[in-house]
Amino acid sequence: MIRPCDARDLGEICTIINDAAAAYHGVIPADCYHQPYMPMPELQREASRMTFFGWEDDGRLTGMIGYEPVRDVTLVRHAYVLPDRQRQGIGSALLGHVIGLTTTDRLLVGTWADATWAIRFYQKHGFRLLPDGDALLRTYWDIPARQRETSVVLGRELPPPSP
Ligand SMILES: CC(C)(COP(=O)(O)OP(=O)(O)OC[C@H]1O[C@@H](n2cnc3c(N)ncnc32)[C@H](O)[C@@H]1OP(=O)(O)O)[C@@H](O)C(=O)NCCC(=O)NCCS
Repeated sequence: MIRPCDARDLGEICTIINDAAAAYHGVIPADCYHQPYMPMPELQREASRMTFFGWEDDGRLTGMIGYEPVRDVTLVRHAYVLPDRQRQGIGSALLGHVIGLTTTDRLLVGTWADATWAIRFYQKHGFRLLPDGDALLRTYWDIPARQRETSVVLGRELPPPSP
């Protein structure tokens, strides 16, 4: 079941992000990886600017995704599924939910250039790698320069809503 999350969920969300982010260890540049990958104060800041949706199983969150409209685009932020629940369709269900909510023409997602599995995941859902990633990251994201240098942006155009 997918549901919107609130402040009471931040503890579980923090666990999901930090457990799932272990996939980056030894893959993304070493100076970009640390544990906890997202400390609670940072998560609280992120939660204040976007909506998190969670996948709940038996009263427990096992996956989450962030949805952040910014001006004329919508950003997918922080998609994470607990390691033992990955590759079972949860990420796809969460991404499909966010796609369904999007009212802008373009949905963008940024991810580490080295996270090839994440790039494939988004490509499977109709996203394509964009050549102007750096400019897009500067325009729509608020992330450190080092993260910009080591990230890519994928985008998906959305059809206008039917009359
Ligand atoms: C990326 C992620 C959110 C996808 O969620 P998920 O529930 O595992 O995804 P789904 O089961 O819906 O889709 C699986 C597809 O994603 C890709 N994928 C996900 N994890 C993968 C992995 N470890 N290795 C290779 N491909 C992977 C594959 O294309 C896979 O399809 P396949 O199983 O048919 O090969 C999840 O795997 C995750 O949390 N990964 C670690 C953190 C991360 O990379 N987050 C992305 C931040 S932008």
